[in-house]
Amino acid sequence: MPAPYSVVALVGSLRKESFTLKIAKAVAKLAPADLKIDVVTLEGLSFFNQDLEGNPPADWLALREKLKASSGVLILTPEYNRSIPGVLKNAIDIASRPYGKSSFLGKPVGLIANSPGPLGGVAAAKHLQNIMPGISGPVMGQPEIYLNGVGDAFDEKGELVKDSLKTVLQQYLDAFAAFVAKQNG
Ligand SMILES: Cc1cc2nc3c(=O)[nH]c(=O)nc-3n(C[C@H](O)[C@H](O)[C@H](O)COP(=O)(O)O)c2cc1C
Repeated sequence: MPAPYSVVALVGSLRKESFTLKIAKAVAKLAPADLKIDVVTLEGLSFFNQDLEGNPPADWLALREKLKASSGVLILTPEYNRSIPGVLKNAIDIASRPYGKSSFLGKPVGLIANSPGPLGGVAAAKHLQNIMPGISGPVMGQPEIYLNGVGDAFDEKGELVKDSLKTVLQQYLDAFAAFVAKQNG
């Protein structure tokens, strides 16, 4: 039987060996059976330009449709200069428009920040907590997750091997699955 809930996982880094991408792939594996995770990377997504809104580029429309068809959204972000990377902000801006028709509307949102450093991307997550509520459904507030020390969390195949991270991710995903089920129920 297919998973009842389909969640888009937006990946906020374009880097080939991105820890954020590896975490997204681990999330797809660790998610409970009722969540299907669609890992969405942002390579090549064109820049938002309000002038193009009358005839939006196909890549904007594809992203918007994917989000609208989802049961919820996970945003996975690294921290760039105490905020989120521009590529992620661009995707959020694209999805938030046209005005009043955000593709995130009504969607339960989860935020997963990370860093190889000690603070786990908390400043990036705090910015997302400012950005998202005005354009989305409810943002899960509890539990929070800030994955620190991700630099040694993966083996050479990109598999998550750090048990402490696996445990907190598992707990987070179980809570997020319940949150998604409640919002879609
Ligand atoms: C432009 C830039 C700014 C950064 N700023 C921060 C920062 O504010 N806080 C932090 O913990 N790490 C910062 N880093 C380090 C990133 O956490 C690190 O490069 C990480 O690997 C990026 O995520 P990724 O592996 O998913 O690409 C920064 C990296 C770059 C390239």
